[in-house]
Amino acid sequence: MARKPSFVCQDCGTAHGKWQGRCDGCGAWDRLVEEAPSAPGRALATRMGRGMALSDLASPEPPPPRTACGIAELDRVLGGGLVPGSAVLLGGDPGIGKSTLLLQAAARFAAAGLPVIYVSGEEATAQVRMRAARLGLAEAPVRLAAETGLSAILATLETERPGLVVVDSIQTMWAETVESAPGSVAQVRAAAQELVTFAKRRGTAVILVGHVTKDGQIAGPRVVEHMVDCVLYFEGERGHQFRILRSVKNRFGPADEIGVFEMTGAGLAEVANPSALFLGERERPAPGAAVFAGIEGTRPLLVEVQALVAPGAPGTPRRAVVGLDGGRLAMILAVLEARAGVSFSGADVYVNVAGGLRIGEPAADLAVAAALLSARNDTPLPAETVFFGEISLSGALRPATQAENRLKEARKLGFSGAVTPVQAPASAVPGIATRGFADIASLVAQMFDPR
Ligand code: TYD
Ligand code: MG
Repeated sequence: MARKPSFVCQDCGTAHGKWQGRCDGCGAWDRLVEEAPSAPGRALATRMGRGMALSDLASPEPPPPRTACGIAELDRVLGGGLVPGSAVLLGGDPGIGKSTLLLQAAARFAAAGLPVIYVSGEEATAQVRMRAARLGLAEAPVRLAAETGLSAILATLETERPGLVVVDSIQTMWAETVESAPGSVAQVRAAAQELVTFAKRRGTAVILVGHVTKDGQIAGPRVVEHMVDCVLYFEGERGHQFRILRSVKNRFGPADEIGVFEMTGAGLAEVANPSALFLGERERPAPGAAVFAGIEGTRPLLVEVQALVAPGAPGTPRRAVVGLDGGRLAMILAVLEARAGVSFSGADVYVNVAGGLRIGEPAADLAVAAALLSARNDTPLPAETVFFGEISLSGALRPATQAENRLKEARKLGFSGAVTPVQAPASAVPGIATRGFADIASLVAQMFDPR
């Protein structure tokens, strides 16, 4: 049976039977590209009759040893080191430092005894060498190649059998069996498939670099995220030197783990105490600043939430937010107005998370609300106090997970008070005085003077 060509969205990978202007999958306009059907059976090794080898769940084999590279922030995000034969996708905006991180990691893995090949499809070997020299890694036993043709890459990998191969980036790779252009969904999918298959078959760990589109997706199909064992994002604001490595999926460890780095003149440096960093300079308590006691992955993290409330021009007031979801801010403003009678209408509202961190936890609601109320009243919040708790649409405060760990981190960094939902364990941590509130209205009534 002749297979029909399909029209595949270059953003989300949804296939359509015919061309259309708008993708049914993600709603993007003008992103469908015709892709030739792949010949059935060409890439399939399975034939009738070969069968599969079955084994028991209680396998006598011990789990394969992991290799830690010694960059603790990276090893932890990987779940305790790199697993042989695993496939890792590292996504991030251009220029955020993916190549820098991986070159540093490659050198450390090589020093830890893992033979490493670094394949760059974006830069010439001379450029990679220059970066290595700048990072002080010129002598590292990492083998380099500038190549985009997948058959050449796989042929070399097959003979060299390295312990780790870094492919920078998957969008530049070109699988000769697929007719579409490099960077298209079909190419990215095929190249990733080949490399992941190689990883599994030969026990070589593969790290793929993936570019990120404007809306934060790894360019190319989501299917690459499904193929790999571990998806990491490298994020941070361009103007800030701090970078967060975040695991959004990990078959070999906890997801949502973060590692914190600082971009310096000599590459990425680990940040051992990130809370101290995200608190910013806090000499005097300033109006509009609230410290959120958050949890990122398995570790607690304190971060300052800053708000500014300014008289706005008549018409539509401005709502600008950095490091938080804009929808979440709109919800908090609406709840403050509807449940506590504090109106921000007619005022411009700006909210920023210090240090370029992005917070996704709903437990940040209370810190955001406190920062907004403090900014609106132009009075600083009580010094040495942290905030956490989710605000529901009814105005009730909901408890956050790991309250004790949050309080302990606050204590460790010299804080002495916490404002939390009422259900939080009352002063579970010695040295921290907890004030619990059942809802946002009672918090406003007792802590703020609503004008
Ligand atoms: P790069 O690793 O090339 O980013 P990506 O691979 O994600 O596109 O990093 C590029 C930026 O990092 C570039 O703007 C310069 C900066 N940088 C430093 O600040 N210090 C360094 O030691 C290096 C190597 C890069
Ligand atoms: Mg790069």
